[in-house]
Amino acid sequence: MRTLVTGANGFVGSHLVDALLSRGHQVTGLVRRTSDLRWLEGLQLNLAYGDVADPASLVKPAQEAEIVFHLAAVTKARRRETFYRVNHRGTMNLLQVCARYNPGMARFVLVSSLAACGPSPGGRSLRETDECSPISDYGRSKLLAEEAAAEFRDRLSVTVIRPPVVYGPRDRDLLIYFRILKKHLRPLLGFRERHLSICHVRDVVQGIVLAGESERSAGQTYFVSGERDCSWNELTRTMAAAMGVRPLKIHLPIFAVRVAAVFGELFASFTRETPVLNRQKAREMSQQCWTCDPGKAGEELGYRPSVSLEEGIRETVEWYRRVGWI
Ligand SMILES: NC(=O)c1ccc[n+]([C@@H]2O[C@H](COP(=O)([O-])OP(=O)(O)OC[C@H]3O[C@@H](n4cnc5c(N)ncnc54)[C@H](OP(=O)(O)O)[C@@H]3O)[C@@H](O)[C@H]2O)c1
Repeated sequence: MRTLVTGANGFVGSHLVDALLSRGHQVTGLVRRTSDLRWLEGLQLNLAYGDVADPASLVKPAQEAEIVFHLAAVTKARRRETFYRVNHRGTMNLLQVCARYNPGMARFVLVSSLAACGPSPGGRSLRETDECSPISDYGRSKLLAEEAAAEFRDRLSVTVIRPPVVYGPRDRDLLIYFRILKKHLRPLLGFRERHLSICHVRDVVQGIVLAGESERSAGQTYFVSGERDCSWNELTRTMAAAMGVRPLKIHLPIFAVRVAAVFGELFASFTRETPVLNRQKAREMSQQCWTCDPGKAGEELGYRPSVSLEEGIRETVEWYRRVGWI
């Protein structure tokens, strides 16, 4: 089928492009003139240059697609406004263009996030029927994007996929932690166990592809996740073991991380860079539990995560070493 992938050059987007091409789809990747295209080099895909903030640039690529996979988003930003401009209004722009110029398209898949729903209350894994309470501008902007998609359900066949933390080759977020481990330190936040759902990028891509191809997924929302949840303690131990290091475990008091976040923001305001740690990130990190239940995707789409945590982390470490990132 003819597919359009927005955010095609990004971490998840580039893996999705690989999977769609290997399944025989004709793929167009929406990228920007400034995008780094290194993960798309040598692939048999068409490139369309556009920006979700510029509706006119979306018309031609949207017109030609049978399935749209919408991944373009900002996950970090210096200014709060950017989250809403790209994640919410950018999604709205693409939905409007699709509804106007290509209402007969087979599917519009919106890749949202567990952050749109928020942390899990009382340690229970979130299900799709749970009410959403995002705690960051990123999460709120992704929830607004979901709500925008819901408004178009009478005109477009929309499916929403919500991944938790995604890791794997090409990821730069968890990379920071791998680099700290390499310095023989294993910091953990607070003194209580914190739990999270985490998913290898190949499994996330499996969920996104199923969402686009399945008849049953029209109008639905699904969480996807890895083969099991884990604690940060277990995750970082697994990472250290895969690297063959025995780092010193240090418990950071939550207030110290909040203070560091304030300094991070202050520093970034001078350097004009996006801070690695800010107050919203610190708030997200200090939650007890970020877990979701992928049972509905399993029952309705046949989603089966296939990469174990140990195997996925080992593969990621090997890849980081091969490209010289750690
Ligand atoms: N990674 C995770 O842990 C995770 C977890 C849950 C959900 N998600 C969701 O998965 C999707 C992909 O995330 P990712 O981790 O792959 O992020 P990423 O590597 O930062 O990729 C984001 C992509 O969006 C594009 N983009 C940003 N602003 C744009 C704009 N105004 N117009 C057009 N394209 C724009 C970027 O293009 P440039 O390269 O030009 O900036 C890039 O291709 C996002 O929707 C994210 O919310 C990710």
